[in-house]
Amino acid sequence: MDLVGLVLIAVWVMLPAYLPNNVAVIAGGGRPIDRGLEWRGHRLLGDGKTWRGTIAGVFAGVFVALLLNGVNPAARDLVGIDLPLFSLGIIAAFPTGAMLGDIAASFLKRRTGRARGNAFPVVDQLDFVVMALLVAVAIDPHWMRDVFTLSLLVVVLVVTPILHVGTNVIGYHFGLKREPW
Ligand code: CTP
Ligand code: MG
Repeated sequence: MDLVGLVLIAVWVMLPAYLPNNVAVIAGGGRPIDRGLEWRGHRLLGDGKTWRGTIAGVFAGVFVALLLNGVNPAARDLVGIDLPLFSLGIIAAFPTGAMLGDIAASFLKRRTGRARGNAFPVVDQLDFVVMALLVAVAIDPHWMRDVFTLSLLVVVLVVTPILHVGTNVIGYHFGLKREPW
């Protein structure tokens, strides 16, 4: 498999984990998950983690996974690469894992004294993908072993921060996001 093919598979496979964050930004607002609760002088999570954003994000991730499965045969023919089909477990694991990772990162940010929206380099760019992969391994280890070769894993870990920064800069310029990270 050449690098272009690997990048294509990486983006295809991780889309159900990428989309939830972006949809949460657009759909977010309303009641924060932590209900304003503080712990050790800082918010538990902060106003940036809402039920609406989280639920909309998970649904969007599930939706895109189902959509990708639907167009899988056509996409395979088009690009001539074996694109993986998502199992039911993975369809649930990637979007929920992605949102959980983002929420866990907010928890860490508050514990380290970072206010809402403050940057937390590396964590901001990888929290969702790392947690999505961990939840996926827990829920469907067979699928993960079949699909995730070491080279695909490395490509995912390199491509994800680039895509994340890219989409956030775009979101910022269109006024959807308060900060460009
Ligand atoms: N958002 C949401 N629910 C989530 C994640 C995001 O409602 N689970 C929305 C919020 O409006 C949030 C925006 O998307 O302000 C941007 O998301 P993010 O950058 O993850 O949050 P921050 O506001 O930067 O907060 P934090 O510092 O806690 O990451
Ligand atoms: Mg942020």
